[in-house]
Amino acid sequence: MTSKTDKQTTQDDDVRTAVREAYGARAREVAAQAPGERAAGVKSRFYETADGMPETVVSYGCGNPVAIAGLQPGETVIDLGSGAGLDCFLSAQQVGPTGHVIGIDMTDDMLALAEQNRAKVGATNVEFRRGVIEALPVDDASVDVIISNCVINLSTDKDAVFREAFRILRPGGRFQVSDVVLRRPVSDAERADLDLWSGCKSGALLHDDYEARLRAAGFEDIDIAVAGDLYDETGAAWASALISARRPGGASAGMPWLKGGKFIEFLAPAGLDTAACCDVDGEGCC
Ligand SMILES: C[S@@+](CC[C@H](N)C(=O)[O-])C[C@H]1O[C@@H](n2cnc3c(N)ncnc32)[C@H](O)[C@@H]1O
Repeated sequence: MTSKTDKQTTQDDDVRTAVREAYGARAREVAAQAPGERAAGVKSRFYETADGMPETVVSYGCGNPVAIAGLQPGETVIDLGSGAGLDCFLSAQQVGPTGHVIGIDMTDDMLALAEQNRAKVGATNVEFRRGVIEALPVDDASVDVIISNCVINLSTDKDAVFREAFRILRPGGRFQVSDVVLRRPVSDAERADLDLWSGCKSGALLHDDYEARLRAAGFEDIDIAVAGDLYDETGAAWASALISARRPGGASAGMPWLKGGKFIEFLAPAGLDTAACCDVDGEGCC
């Protein structure tokens, strides 16, 4: 008889396989696109500064974590689920030649695309590592800032992701990510739908659950800014959010950094509608 734990493990493996296949297919589509063509995944509305990037540096994100990260020259940055590399390349410009950016991704075709993009961009302070965000191939307390864009919702073990994020950050280090949050619990049918999972929907957490799990991992100064009205039950279940938190201690405590709420206020006058992010054509963000 299959135990509950075995069943859960099987479901988790199925989700990871579906996510890897979905993003592998997208990466191959981008790698095969003809010059001037635009494959699935766009350099989204969140990236006014991404225009100089090659067409293959696509975004599957639901926000712009680099915009709230407050990156300083010389800092070390980790991007959880780095995809085609856009946030890594933008971070690399900000941390400069004395800084270092490492993108982590589990999908080989996506890593290959990111490597090709790195060569096109000529980024010498960026590297990509194969790995899962639940067990990061990164040393303890070696990182100033963690960024991530629409990836943590895809993990079947968020507590492991938050524990790992905390482990690799230096005391005072910042966690500055974009992700999807839920406005209502998802149904069992939604949770079991692997397309919804890889579309960044079924695996998302409720706002309060996200905060509680970050706190349990040891983070403080937690701020979760949701685009649109979190409690609008007539609206979509899924919303884009900017999430900031900090590992306690360290010299950078008290350093000013942008929280997501400020960024969402900043986007509104620029006409960049974050609230619509997760409902684009009913297809989700990713
Ligand atoms: C929605 S895409 C986002 C990519 C990128 N952050 C962006 O904004 O374009 C999700 C990416 O995360 C990767 N990914 C998903 N789950 C992962 C996990 N558990 N560990 C490592 N990478 C993961 C996928 O391979 C894919 O490249």
